[in-house]
Amino acid sequence: MKYGFIGCGNMGGALAKALAKATTDFAITDRSGKAIALAAEIPCGYLSSPEIAAQCERIFLGVKPHMMKDVLAPLQPILAQRKPLLITMAAGLTTQQIREFAGCDIPVLRIMPNTPVAVGKGVTQYCCNDLVTEEMLRDFLHDMRFSGLLDPLEERLMDAGSAISGSGPAYVYLLIEALADGALTCGIPRAKALEYAAATVIGAGEMVLATGQHPGALKDAVCSPGGSTISGIRALENHGFRAAAMEAVIATYNRNKELGK
Ligand SMILES: NC(=O)c1ccc[n+]([C@@H]2O[C@H](COP(=O)([O-])OP(=O)(O)OC[C@H]3O[C@@H](n4cnc5c(N)ncnc54)[C@H](OP(=O)(O)O)[C@@H]3O)[C@@H](O)[C@H]2O)c1
Repeated sequence: MKYGFIGCGNMGGALAKALAKATTDFAITDRSGKAIALAAEIPCGYLSSPEIAAQCERIFLGVKPHMMKDVLAPLQPILAQRKPLLITMAAGLTTQQIREFAGCDIPVLRIMPNTPVAVGKGVTQYCCNDLVTEEMLRDFLHDMRFSGLLDPLEERLMDAGSAISGSGPAYVYLLIEALADGALTCGIPRAKALEYAAATVIGAGEMVLATGQHPGALKDAVCSPGGSTISGIRALENHGFRAAAMEAVIATYNRNKELGK
């Protein structure tokens, strides 16, 4: 079998959905059996962790960082024998740490995805150790082509990448919720307010990417002198909006660093 997922919760499940658009030659597993329903929905196989280690050529590791060592320890003999490609998505854990947890010299691809991969709009940074061949990487990128943006990043920057795009959807959901609550206060029904807020976030993001313009310039184009939008900007500035967003990324980055210790 081509791929396996050990741990298939929020992030692993989103990646499995993205992968399934290219191939369903994979199986998933979890601890509780909740992923059995997901396997039926995708559809893909459901195996145990030792079966995945024994049968799959490439193995996504979708467990929490603090569990990684214990999950890989019992699989060490079979990993040493087969040397499948390990694809870790764990925040803060380096390729070297994964290699140590696997107990052998083994190819390790480290990815930092985000949950919008499930709808083809994700951001995934990646880096790998020296045992990952160009062909393995090319094939992986091809199989993940329906996940969204895939971008190489030096390993030393992965924790920072994780802080902006891995965790970023959570910040943006908060923004969408807050914008919609503001509109609700002004009388817009909740469903419409949420739709307008979410579509506006998508539109603004697309404008940044499509025009290549600095977001400050795009902001200026929305603000007329003495107009209402600049009054809204002033309110955001008064409440430390930009500083809060910067601090969110930096706090996440610092926490990612702690997770790897
Ligand atoms: N969530 C995100 O947006 C995001 C973004 C980037 C990276 N990540 C990374 O993705 C990884 C998973 O995070 P998550 O948010 O997806 O966590 P999650 O929803 O809690 O999923 C963790 C998965 O691991 C399974 N698991 C736990 N112990 C296991 C074991 N001994 N054997 C097999 N499976 C086991 C869980 O199964 P049960 O449910 O049955 O316990 C569950 O399927 C983390 O390393 C995190 O750093 C997450």
